[in-house]
Amino acid sequence: MTAAGPGANPDQLLAAATFGRLAQGAASGCAALEAQIFAGDDPWPESAFASELANPGNLYLGWVIPDGGAAEGVDRVLAYGGITRLGPESAPEYEIHTIAVDPVLRGRGLGRELLEALLAAADAAPGPVYLEVRTDNEPAIGMYSAHGFETMGVRKRYYRQSGADAYTMCRPAAGES
Ligand SMILES: CC(C)(COP(=O)(O)OP(=O)(O)OC[C@H]1O[C@@H](n2cnc3c(N)ncnc32)[C@H](O)[C@@H]1OP(=O)(O)O)[C@@H](O)C(=O)NCCC(=O)NCCS
Repeated sequence: MTAAGPGANPDQLLAAATFGRLAQGAASGCAALEAQIFAGDDPWPESAFASELANPGNLYLGWVIPDGGAAEGVDRVLAYGGITRLGPESAPEYEIHTIAVDPVLRGRGLGRELLEALLAAADAAPGPVYLEVRTDNEPAIGMYSAHGFETMGVRKRYYRQSGADAYTMCRPAAGES
């Protein structure tokens, strides 16, 4: 890492990052990555991430470069994923909010690692896991299908800004099929 930060080299970025539960300070870095990736599809602003990160029923994990690697005062988020727990203690259900990986770091297993860590958390108190994904998002649908998610139906014009449709996908509770 240099005074100017780790640059855009994927190996340097990952070497400078730590993986773990995201703290409140990651809200602005999550929003920055979200705006880059989901422009045109109602990207969550920093205030939405701040609220979700503060919710004790949520688990957000990710790779973060503290201070952006250059004492910028803002954590740089390279990838994040979040899951929320719903329903009563006796019959929990889960919803994956999203998983997002910086474009320069895709295809290296980060998305899979995030998803598996979120699912492991859900499997500690097993329940079905739901999510919505754009019907044209082949990489994400491929990743979810490979982890036991099946398409339940289509939500027309789910993404208000673009008007794109979404699949609702569900992974049965661990131990069920
Ligand atoms: C979806 C996303 C998170 C995957 O992250 P990633 O780190 O590139 O994925 P990984 O390298 O861990 O690959 C995991 C699996 O995803 C699928 N996948 C990844 N890239 C793919 C591609 N270009 N085409 C098809 N499937 C792909 C594969 O099933 C892959 O498993 P495999 O390597 O065993 O074949 C990433 O593409 C992303 O951030 N996309 C934009 C944000 C987004 O759409 N998030 C989902 C919202 S619901």
